[in-house]
Amino acid sequence: MWGSTSEGHLVVANSNKRLRLSVIGTGYLGATHAAAMSSLGFEVVGIDLDKEKISLLSQGRVPFFEPGLDQLLSDEIATGRLTFTDDFAAASECDVHFICVGTPQAKNSLAADMTFVNGALAAIAPVAKSGSLIVGKSTVPVGTAARLAEELASINAGAELAWNPEFLREGFAVEDTLRPNRLVVGVTSDRAEEILREVYADLLALDIPWIRADLPTAELVKVAANSFLATKISFINAMAEICEAADGDVTVLAKAIGFDPRIGNRFLQAGIGFGGGCLPKDIRAFMARADELGARQALEFLREIDSINLRARTRMIELVRADLGDDLKGRKIAILGAAFKPESDDVRDSPALDIAVQLHGAGADVRIHDPKATENAKRRFPALDFTTDLGECLKGSELILHLTEWREYREIDPSAIAHLVAKKNIIDGRNALDRAKWIKAGWHLRALGVAPVLKAIG
Ligand code: UGA
Repeated sequence: MWGSTSEGHLVVANSNKRLRLSVIGTGYLGATHAAAMSSLGFEVVGIDLDKEKISLLSQGRVPFFEPGLDQLLSDEIATGRLTFTDDFAAASECDVHFICVGTPQAKNSLAADMTFVNGALAAIAPVAKSGSLIVGKSTVPVGTAARLAEELASINAGAELAWNPEFLREGFAVEDTLRPNRLVVGVTSDRAEEILREVYADLLALDIPWIRADLPTAELVKVAANSFLATKISFINAMAEICEAADGDVTVLAKAIGFDPRIGNRFLQAGIGFGGGCLPKDIRAFMARADELGARQALEFLREIDSINLRARTRMIELVRADLGDDLKGRKIAILGAAFKPESDDVRDSPALDIAVQLHGAGADVRIHDPKATENAKRRFPALDFTTDLGECLKGSELILHLTEWREYREIDPSAIAHLVAKKNIIDGRNALDRAKWIKAGWHLRALGVAPVLKAIG
């Protein structure tokens, strides 16, 4: 039944799926989920209030950068199974509705802003047909699903609510949706589980683990997973601080502890820390919710995780000052990276951009390069100087900061760019560059979490 396209996407040979699906919210999560479900053979309608997004998606164009999604989307639109609209009435014949809207941090608190989730339920509840299942995928404070289930019952007693958290990473959204490492469903009836088993039948056939949970546990799995990942990153960044103080090298430390399978070597990349639309706001919303539940102390440690993370950005600025002196006015700094991580054009809470903004605020002459994220970054910070031309970015700089580990930066030949800069001076904020290569080419290289006087390793 499975095949694959030239792009390596999974495709189904026939499309005799019984269920019809709607996907509400067409951001990174929803657009990917809609296209992926269509590629499993379902008829899918994606719904979003943003008319411009709907128009682009309907033409098979993805309004953001996500590797592989543009191809999958246009393939699926071409099958006729996948459509997009801003009209909720289009969902009235669907059997399963996935809520995939965002839950950003609220403006004036640590809590999640639930406006979009509440709005999505209010819009879908009256049109959902009897017997249909409304499935939340958004990351929400525990207790949300139970509250929404009650609201749903009061509007439309024939429909049912379930929760099915999503664990996809930006940059790997298609792969993570079609080959997740687990499927978690929070349900209150066997029937709801059966429907979700039917939706994910092709993935279950691949032996992907299936976990049935109650509603609160399903919601908690997601925030617990993101909190654990954030903790792992801040742990290694705390070790980075110690290594700096004790003349050690956090990259060697991380490699060495990572060989212990109980620890594992992933998410131990020390540097300027985590950002994006998920980890930072999720740990904060989790703390806010624990407070409401009277369990504040249990998550007190996440406050420290958050401050270690933000401190990594400050440590980067301190390294810059140690190098260029306290007065940064007019100092030429080239910044490599604006996205919160490579393979993404997302600049939400990007550590790289935050550092650039702080240096700009201190009067430095900052020029920022990113292969994909300059448009989004410019929209947020129009006063900053962005370029997609690497040579332009480096020209005349006294210091380069490597802040997002795009492959093209790792592939730079340090000898080949030496003539562009005023000074062969670089700080690796992601511990991703080949140090030996740069030092051998005569560069003064420092990195977060390593002794100030670098030894070339490897
Ligand atoms: C994260 C989770 O990894 C996904 O499982 C989850 O589904 C998603 O949030 C979500 O809640 O929707 P994502 O935000 O796409 O995914 O990014 P990650 O790959 O987790 O990276 C987060 C940040 O941590 C990035 O800024 C990255 O640069 C940083 N990071 C990651 C490190 O600083 N060190 C590491 O070792 C790994």
